[in-house]
Amino acid sequence: MKHIYQAGTDSNAPVLVLFHGTGGTERDLLPLAGMISPGSSVLSVRGNVLENGMPRFFRRLAEGIFDEEDLIFRTKELHEFLDQAAAEYAFDRDNLVAIGYSNGANIAGSLLFHYPGALKGAALHHPMVPRRGALLPDLTGLPVFIGAGKNDPICSPQETEELSGLLEQAGASVTVHWESFGHQLTSSEVNAAAEWFKQAF
Ligand code: MLT
Repeated sequence: MKHIYQAGTDSNAPVLVLFHGTGGTERDLLPLAGMISPGSSVLSVRGNVLENGMPRFFRRLAEGIFDEEDLIFRTKELHEFLDQAAAEYAFDRDNLVAIGYSNGANIAGSLLFHYPGALKGAALHHPMVPRRGALLPDLTGLPVFIGAGKNDPICSPQETEELSGLLEQAGASVTVHWESFGHQLTSSEVNAAAEWFKQAF
């Protein structure tokens, strides 16, 4: 997968794995990594799917309606890519924390839903429920930050509650941070994620 890897100064800090939103690239979230954990190595990935020329991590049938078959296929592809990247760049595969925004948060959520041990934690900015009806793996104690907007037309507050409930039922330790805005990623939400990261890792 197309990506950027930047080795950090602190080899014990979690490696931050960045997933952009629809229409973004692997460059978009690099500034967030510096704000959340400046010493961390960073692996920033570009989604392999194109929707009218806009990169995404999996196909959708319409706004908010995911192509479940492609979601499952792309989640596996990404999980395997993370294994390969860990070998290529010699980082600890068990020390990855995802930071995802929108579609990128949804693929990070899908990694949590499908692959136990894929991530050590995740900051999900404006995520949705990636898939319904699947049995989640045991996520006991896994720190998850959810940044949400009370007026987000794409990820409704109800869906945020549903996602945090599903993750909590699987044992994850979920922190939900509410903004009064919409789908945008604000600096105060990133600051809250940075605070969460400091406490969690
Ligand atoms: C998705 O398709 O993953 C969500 O609707 C968010 C987005 O607009 O990308």
